[in-house]
Amino acid sequence: MSFDLPLNAQNTNVVTDHHAAPVKDTVTDPMIDIERWLAHFRGNQENRAEPEWEAPITMSAATIKPLLRSLEQFELGDGGGPDRLIARNADSFRCGTVARQELVDMWFVEEKEHSRLLGGLVQRFGGRSIQGHWSFSAFCLSRRILGVGFELSILLVTEIFSTAYYRLLCQHGEDAALKGVCRLILRDEAGHVAFHRDRLARTARPGGYGRLWEMGFRALAMGAATMLFINHASALRAMGAYGSDFYREVRHEIALFLRRLRAETAAYSE
Ligand SMILES: [Fe+2]
Ligand SMILES: [Fe+2]
Repeated sequence: MSFDLPLNAQNTNVVTDHHAAPVKDTVTDPMIDIERWLAHFRGNQENRAEPEWEAPITMSAATIKPLLRSLEQFELGDGGGPDRLIARNADSFRCGTVARQELVDMWFVEEKEHSRLLGGLVQRFGGRSIQGHWSFSAFCLSRRILGVGFELSILLVTEIFSTAYYRLLCQHGEDAALKGVCRLILRDEAGHVAFHRDRLARTARPGGYGRLWEMGFRALAMGAATMLFINHASALRAMGAYGSDFYREVRHEIALFLRRLRAETAAYSE
């Protein structure tokens, strides 16, 4: 199931032949405001202070142990895998225009950076980077076989509920480096979610996305968030954050996303 309607939108004239060269057009991509988002991704590379890696570690071993297992998985899952869209038909989205290809690459460069930052925390707390995990394998398999519409949807909902996870780590984690990493990732993910929301709003069908679409989107996001919670609850709990805190944050992020999507869709249709 895909929530990425623009791939089927009527007003797109982008390249869909996998073997065709991307259109050398940086301005008139019908799906994405290229100039706005190229400027965003370039600007976001500025003023990025490194986390305080040398700050003393004051969290207890009992807190660090489950946190470490969680961070190891996030190092792999948040940018530690393939640095590109991997759906079997990914080129139908990525290669629409040269500039769109550049945008997608810039998005994945930021994801790679998340993995580097999380790897720094894993090292700091005495852990080792992992090369695989069943949840990450399932995540990649679904992205590969279900097509790029689904892949964009699942990456978007992952960014939405990961925001809840990083915010709780930032609020509850008594560690300067941990807070520094979370602040950088939260800043990037806010941009990624806004990027996806903008392209969805820009290519909505007349009348917007509707209640049924929103229900499906909520169900996908809540289901995926629960998959994450199953694996990471012990880390959150060790730091004093509970399931109720996690789901409150997730519901808040989903509601915020849908409210802004409605408003931006309405603004584009005026
Ligand atoms: Fe990320
Ligand atoms: Fe992201």
